[in-house]
Amino acid sequence: MKKTYQYLSVIVSSMLLLGACGDKQSPGLEYMPDMYRTPAVVAYSPSHITKDSVSALAPVAGTVARGQYVDFIYPNTNEGYEAAGLELKNPFQPTVENMERGKTEFDTYCIHCHGEKGDGKGWLKIKGDPFPVPSYTSAAIKDLPDGKMFFSITYGKNLMGSHAAQVSADDRWKIILYINHLQGDEPGAVVADSSATAQNK
Ligand code: HEC
Repeated sequence: MKKTYQYLSVIVSSMLLLGACGDKQSPGLEYMPDMYRTPAVVAYSPSHITKDSVSALAPVAGTVARGQYVDFIYPNTNEGYEAAGLELKNPFQPTVENMERGKTEFDTYCIHCHGEKGDGKGWLKIKGDPFPVPSYTSAAIKDLPDGKMFFSITYGKNLMGSHAAQVSADDRWKIILYINHLQGDEPGAVVADSSATAQNK
């Protein structure tokens, strides 16, 4: 009986020793691997399913993220800018709720350049900046159509980058309501009804 135990312990310890040989990256013999190995692909690790072993796949063609406009068909050209200015209308009403949402988003993504009052005096100053941040009440922007604003926020303009990834289309329109307010537009149209819905809903 004692001998059997001795044999067994020799077999077990040599198994454990052998398990430590070979690939230095390998953890060797694993006890119940399913406890810590998931069948889901770990981000950016090689995939055994795809031919090129890439696991981070691009979305299926035609995928539209939530809140993105399907019908924003304007190309990033001067013609696209002009057409957007003529054709796009803000689908939201300047209700208190929409304006507040616009202000929250403006305070998060725009205020550091455009300033609290939209006068272009945000705290972010770019040294030798050839494109100073304009005031929303400057001659060039005072009467800028909402569609052009939407276009510029979506694609960016000179030193202003695109905000399409950070701010949903709906929120871009709500920020525009708030910009209109900063431009001194009468908030007279502010109504209690906040049931405005976007074009893509
Ligand atoms: C990095 C600084 C910066 C940030 C952040 C920024 N802007 Fe701008 N913005 C600019 C500059 C600079 C211009 C002037 C671009 C030009 O005409 O050269 C501008 C121009 C504009 C215009 C006028 C566009 C036109 O067609 O003439 C609008 C509207 C505007 N910004 C809105 C926004 C909104 C809304 C946000 C936040 C979602 C934002 N900006 C964030 C710097 C910024």
